[in-house]
Amino acid sequence: MSDIEKIESETLQRIAAAGDIAALEDVRVASLGKKGVISERMKELGKMSPEERKAAGAALNLLKDKIAAAIDAKKQRLEDAELDRRLATEKVDVTLPVAPSPKGRIHPVTQVSEEIVAIFSAMGFDVAEGPDIEDDFHNFTALNFPPDHPAREMHDTFFFRPRADGSRMLLRTHTSPVQIRAMMTKKPPIRIIIPGRTFRCDSDQTHTPMFHQVEGLVIDRETHMGHLKGTLEAFCKAFFEVDSVRTRFRPHFFPFTEPSAEMDIGYERVGNEIRIGQGEAWMEILGSGMVHTNVLRNCGLDPDEYQGFAFGMGIDRLAMLKYGIPDLRDFFAADARWLEHYGFDPLDIPNLATGLSR
Ligand code: DAH
Repeated sequence: MSDIEKIESETLQRIAAAGDIAALEDVRVASLGKKGVISERMKELGKMSPEERKAAGAALNLLKDKIAAAIDAKKQRLEDAELDRRLATEKVDVTLPVAPSPKGRIHPVTQVSEEIVAIFSAMGFDVAEGPDIEDDFHNFTALNFPPDHPAREMHDTFFFRPRADGSRMLLRTHTSPVQIRAMMTKKPPIRIIIPGRTFRCDSDQTHTPMFHQVEGLVIDRETHMGHLKGTLEAFCKAFFEVDSVRTRFRPHFFPFTEPSAEMDIGYERVGNEIRIGQGEAWMEILGSGMVHTNVLRNCGLDPDEYQGFAFGMGIDRLAMLKYGIPDLRDFFAADARWLEHYGFDPLDIPNLATGLSR
């Protein structure tokens, strides 16, 4: 057997024996690599006579091509085998459920409450809370509703059974009683918002017996109506996520504020959609005013020293407006399909930096 035939048969054997790509690569380096046997032989061609070189050169080139082809073929076979092995082992069970997305949705009331808290927190307000079950003093009397005043009737209150002393607890009809609790326990300056559940005996497309309000209260020495207007206009712009809003303050009556005003916001209807901020039409969105001197006195604050403003608005109503939800009763029907449609991603937390709603 000639030298070349020997190299060929040995190399072909090693190629056949290579069990994986790495072993095959070793064979390639040992034969065709820069210092491989075939390359070494090529280098010797220079020392030969022209005739010898012609014959040996042709034989070596032939050998080189054969070995290279054998390595390629083996490489292909090894890769095919590897693919077959993976296809056999990496089975996908298409009957398994698809990758689960986060379960559950954030209710629009929670979403809007968090949006409101984010906006007022950035303005320096704290969040305060109070009980759902109140007494007459906090819900009415301290808020300057005189006994037997018709304003008490306006609220369609849910009362509990009378106690031994004749007094009756009630479900708070607004978040305003928490103003009283705050003013009786905190020393001004006070700057709070009070989100929470409220109750009135009422039910139709835009009223439910339980609903949500957010109350605002600022008490300081020189706080005036200009601050009230500026605060509420800034709130509306941030909440409705628009660059400018038209607002209008209309005189109104609330027992606990003097003067009192309702705030309207401009809007226009385009097709089925309501666009907040501009337009010729007005919509009432909240009640407000300067805290009544009687209320300050009832809480032990001297009206000659302190004054401030308050406001109250319906969270559910704001949610309906902002997110185009037509019927309030659906909010509390616990229908998973409704929540899937109108709810919010649990991982998107409203904040002013990345946007309130996405
Ligand atoms: N408590 C009022 C209501 O439920 C809303 C309200 C109006 C609250 C004016 C206020 C205010 O703090 O100043 O109808």
